[in-house]
Amino acid sequence: MNRRTLLTTGLAAGAGITAAPFIMRKGIAQAGTPVTLTPWVDPLPTPPVLNPTNIVSGAAFDPRVTAYGAPNYHELIEAEGFHQFHRDLPATKMWLYNGTFPGPTFINRRGVPTVIRRINNLNPAHVGFGIPETTMHHHGGHQSPMDDGWPLDFIAPGTYRDHLIPNIVPDNDSNEWPSTLWYHDHCIDYTAANVYRGLAGMSLHFDDLDSGNENDINPAALRLPSGAYDVPLVFRDVALNADGSLLFNQLDTKGQVGNLKTVNGKVKPYLTVQRRKYRFRLLGGSLAREWMFRIWNGNVRVPFQIIASDGGLLPAPVTVTQHQQGNAERYEIVVDFSKFANGTQITLNDHLVQTDGNKPVGVSPTGEPLVLFRVVGAAAAPDPSRVPDVLRPLSPVDMTRVMATRTIELSQVGGFWTINGSPWNPNVPIFQPKLGSAEIWNVSVKGGGWDHPLHIHQEFFRILKRGGAKPQAWERGRKDVVLLSNTSPVQLYVSFRTFTGPYVFHCHNLAHEDMAMMAWYNVIP
Ligand code: C2O
Ligand code: CU
Ligand code: CU
Repeated sequence: MNRRTLLTTGLAAGAGITAAPFIMRKGIAQAGTPVTLTPWVDPLPTPPVLNPTNIVSGAAFDPRVTAYGAPNYHELIEAEGFHQFHRDLPATKMWLYNGTFPGPTFINRRGVPTVIRRINNLNPAHVGFGIPETTMHHHGGHQSPMDDGWPLDFIAPGTYRDHLIPNIVPDNDSNEWPSTLWYHDHCIDYTAANVYRGLAGMSLHFDDLDSGNENDINPAALRLPSGAYDVPLVFRDVALNADGSLLFNQLDTKGQVGNLKTVNGKVKPYLTVQRRKYRFRLLGGSLAREWMFRIWNGNVRVPFQIIASDGGLLPAPVTVTQHQQGNAERYEIVVDFSKFANGTQITLNDHLVQTDGNKPVGVSPTGEPLVLFRVVGAAAAPDPSRVPDVLRPLSPVDMTRVMATRTIELSQVGGFWTINGSPWNPNVPIFQPKLGSAEIWNVSVKGGGWDHPLHIHQEFFRILKRGGAKPQAWERGRKDVVLLSNTSPVQLYVSFRTFTGPYVFHCHNLAHEDMAMMAWYNVIP
């Protein structure tokens, strides 16, 4: 089969949907008949937790998995299903993990190996955009190439594949442990379509320090807001046809932006909050859209603390009044609602003006409210949680390990998105780093018309420099995505400490990735 065939379905003229009284920004491809949607009628859903099970569907595990003892076993079933993006919209046919969008939240604990048996129950005769052959990448995870969701390791409907998530860290570094990862389809050429169909979910990580228990009696525990006060927020824009079906333009090489911005799968949901601190885990879960968040109490900006980035907790919280993030980046924030009176309405707004997949073209002073927080409580609620001044220390960058310096240029050549002038080539690795070594990657963008969120699999990297200078405080932690424009080349410190074999890196604007801004490195012994 020709893996480069572009499907033309999904191109039918669609009806974009606008919501009154809000003016929703329309993507260029999404002009259409507006309908009225009432904001703040759907409660913000929290994706269900992916629970382990003892009953194994199918054959026994292979030795790669049993070498880890009897790992925590989970099943993830990919199947067609329906999802409603808003109370007043028709149900949308999607591809769901265990029946939900976003997929169920996968919970990990340091040192507890886990296996996911991913069962593809999609329709083999599927018509329309997307391909029912799937891989799955645990994004940010430190796992072997076998388990990483290599884009060509796709499985057909009616089959399954095991992903071993060992929950180890390189060098067993006691300072290293992530907090918010995610998982999503990664099928070669079809990642954008399959992820847009719905194949994405969150993956949270805990350990003794960040234990997920704000009442933890362990004196070392940070006691960050936990349980009902620890809320993932998946931001994703979509475009719908008038009948509620997903509108997707497979030929949009810039990356599609949709006019409906959703949070945890809902357009303009509300969350009732108590007068206390909340931890929010923010994922840029779009195909191409970037976000700039501000939190508003009427026309007053509410400051908040950034506590974590892609690779886990920062050494210290950073207080800000706005935060920008690109596709696939995760940042965690703590918002304190304790000082707001009962009945106060707080909104989290997106302030970027972005009408196509290239890049945002401006900042709107008012922005578009995405979530409404309704504050309840006559008095401040009891709050045992804390945001300590010291979160997770950062191990120093070890320059003695550096064995190579690489130059990476992201550009457009002959209609393809390329890395060092070449589109994806499954046969030739771009680099062959040595196991145990580190490298300096100097990454730049050629051409000012677009942004690229570059993602590297397998280990978190560190941003040594952005635009020649030290990066902002929130970019100094462990990262796996770096948002790039031509004005901000970066210097990265990348390590290869545990596994040998092939790993990809790519632009996480998923249209760019599919068309074919992806390369792979091969870690050699
Ligand atoms: Cu989140 Cu290779 O991707
Ligand atoms: Cu990844
Ligand atoms: Cu890109």
